[in-house]
Amino acid sequence: MAEGEHSLDLLTIEGGRPLKGDISISGSKNAALPILIATLLTDEPCGVKNVPSLDDIEAVIGLLVFLGKNVVRQRDRLDITAGPTLYGEAPYELVRKMRASVVVMGPLLARLGKVKVSLPGGCAIGGRPVNIHLEGFKALGASIQLEEGYVTAEANRLQGTSFTLDFASVGATENLMMAASLARGTTLLIGAAKEPEITDLADFLNHMGARITGAGTDTLTIEGVERLHGTEHEVIPDRIETGTYMIAAAITRGDLDLHPARPEHLRELIAKLGQAGVSVDQDNGHLRVKGVKDLHPVDAETAVHPGFPTDLQAPWMALMSLARGVSHIAERVFENRFMHVPELQRMGARIQVKGPHAAVEGVDSLSGAEVMVSDLRAGAALVLAGLAAEGKTVIHRVYHLDRGYEHLERKLSAVGARIRRSQE
Ligand code: UD1
Repeated sequence: MAEGEHSLDLLTIEGGRPLKGDISISGSKNAALPILIATLLTDEPCGVKNVPSLDDIEAVIGLLVFLGKNVVRQRDRLDITAGPTLYGEAPYELVRKMRASVVVMGPLLARLGKVKVSLPGGCAIGGRPVNIHLEGFKALGASIQLEEGYVTAEANRLQGTSFTLDFASVGATENLMMAASLARGTTLLIGAAKEPEITDLADFLNHMGARITGAGTDTLTIEGVERLHGTEHEVIPDRIETGTYMIAAAITRGDLDLHPARPEHLRELIAKLGQAGVSVDQDNGHLRVKGVKDLHPVDAETAVHPGFPTDLQAPWMALMSLARGVSHIAERVFENRFMHVPELQRMGARIQVKGPHAAVEGVDSLSGAEVMVSDLRAGAALVLAGLAAEGKTVIHRVYHLDRGYEHLERKLSAVGARIRRSQE
């Protein structure tokens, strides 16, 4: 990513203060992105509520507008209507800002019979190829061409099929589910992703008139329909934001009440926090998390849902840096997702990495330092470490955090954190 284009804000945190109070959880970024993209499947108006205000959401709005939609925001609600023409080409300038843009392929291919999208560039967390997306489109009858960094897919009318995903990719499942919704006949997606964001997208599509069953299991059945219509939808709460603030309560030995929350989306984290000795109470859309003085070390291995989410691996490592003993963390979903390790080490954490494994030896305290964010969730880990650390932590490249945490400093300040944003 070119540096010059980003705001060079930094965050300064004076650590060591327990966080206490209520935090309201925003709508899910990763559910909102494909849902907004799914509005490309119809020319009728759609209204989507509980959409967080984030740089990634702005990027997808920019893409929709480029493709011919009109988008109006009123607080957390977006109204999406069609302009005179729907375009089938997403250029590099727009796609490189956000990998999730590649999910426009499915709807545009289904609507227009042809789509040309820039391949997402290399990303900080591993190679992140799109081979499964493309194999799925081929199985649905599309021809695929790759040239000059662009992928073109073409098909007069997609044909329902049975397709097995090599890996339960979230983005590929979303892309193929949307394409198959307008295909002729029935599609079976076997080995599909089961994340709550997939279920939210399936609910949205079904409200548009799609016929999708099996969301939340590893086999989706999609009976193609002739057309989809407009609808209204409210996005689910963000489980990764919720999980990050749960860990914030634990790491600062604080007491936070998070709502609206969906504990059923966070079972693994709730179980692990319990094993670490942290008290988690669930009541009617609220999660109340109280930290303890002595944290037990607890191993974690990331996996597809309902396993431990890769997006909470870095935050969990920050927490385990302060446990009483050694814990082991394995990253199984992405390659190269340990960029937070050297930064946590700068703050006094004792971590050894070997391939996809990290051994974390808990220390008594972390100390504030100047650190740099490499990607969104690595940034969350550094904020958490800074909240717990003694002294001052200065976090550079905050723009990564602005992609995914709505009103981060405002929410944390309101529960007692000393955190402020300034310019480099
Ligand atoms: C989504 C989430 C991201 C989360 C990830 C895994 C959004 C916008 N982002 O990303 O926050 O960390 O799920 O839960 O929802 N892969 C392939 N070939 C493919 C597609 C993926 O090899 O065609 C690999 C990737 O390189 C990666 C793994 O599969 O190692 C997981 O990727 P995927 O589930 O597709 O993640 P995203 O949809 O990009």
